[in-house]
Amino acid sequence: MPSTSTSTAPRARILTGDTPSGKLHIGHWVGSLENRARLQDAYECYFLIANLHAFTTRADQPSEIARDTLEILKDWLAAGIDPERATVVVQSEVPAITELTWHLSMLLPFNRVMRNPTLKDELDVKGLGDKYSFGFPLYAVGQCADILTFRPALVPVGEDQLAHIEMCREVARRFNHTYCGVDPATPDAEHVAAGGLLPIPEGLVGRVGRLVGVDGTQKMSKSLGNAIYLTDTTAQIKKKVAQIYTGRVDTNAPGDTNNALFQYVRSFITDPARVAELEDRYRRGDAIGDGHVKVEVAAAIDALLAPMRERRARFDAPGREDILHDIIRTHSARANTAAAETLGRVREAMKLRFVR
Ligand code: TRP
Repeated sequence: MPSTSTSTAPRARILTGDTPSGKLHIGHWVGSLENRARLQDAYECYFLIANLHAFTTRADQPSEIARDTLEILKDWLAAGIDPERATVVVQSEVPAITELTWHLSMLLPFNRVMRNPTLKDELDVKGLGDKYSFGFPLYAVGQCADILTFRPALVPVGEDQLAHIEMCREVARRFNHTYCGVDPATPDAEHVAAGGLLPIPEGLVGRVGRLVGVDGTQKMSKSLGNAIYLTDTTAQIKKKVAQIYTGRVDTNAPGDTNNALFQYVRSFITDPARVAELEDRYRRGDAIGDGHVKVEVAAAIDALLAPMRERRARFDAPGREDILHDIIRTHSARANTAAAETLGRVREAMKLRFVR
């Protein structure tokens, strides 16, 4: 039998997202945003703004969370997420996600959730000690529900999110076993064929899983003040790149291309021949100083961000916020249609269909 044409076959789905905690930076770009922009045609894409997750640590800041939610959307559109092709999901507009969070929370042992390394790291980094809310650890289950509501094949994320994806895969297998009768020995790729409702999704890490910040030591992050934002100006980029610490003083001494500066060289200078040349000269100490390399790195980052500035100017002007709200309204309807289909089937599988 001839295979069906690829143009009519439904495309596999992607779901991924960001928590609105402020502006996105170039670490987000190389870790995941770039993949999202690139895969928009090959996959049916759902990009989620996890505004409910922001409440797990900032329940007293609804206005800031609302503002940050729109900031993320602007960053995405600027970065090339195309609202004609992808669906933007504002988490709070899709109540089915919250319902699924409840169901999945029964399938994960409490201690399993608390052992999730990403969750533990976050408690550390944010210095939450034992003062976090009851809802805080629930966000990790919520993230499984964000994903599984859309039944995606692929979840493009930064490296720090892989522990969440692993937990999501676990709970999807358990759901299929408990409510769809799938044999637990079934290989992941065959769950749906074996009658499982939820496909077991795969994580996809970008070409740079963990970009070091301009402090040269810690992961780039808003809370550490070591980030280059997608909205930074040419002057801000230059200034921040100039801060990258390498510890090198003598431009004629062999340099270490495993340093932070060269992670930027490899991440942002697009011509591979130029990267190889810089690495070679730096290693040999061929009269090439950090200052010189930094000028090229700053120019490369500026070239990446220039088209984003241009795109942003189209909707980030006074009086143009309607564009954002229009996108959220039409996309929420699409997202709710997809989510209702999954939750209808979840309820069926869990014997929760009393009203027919
Ligand atoms: N926790 C993710 C972050 O902080 C954001 C997120 C929420 C997410 N739900 C998701 C990522 C679902 C991927 C899939 O970056």
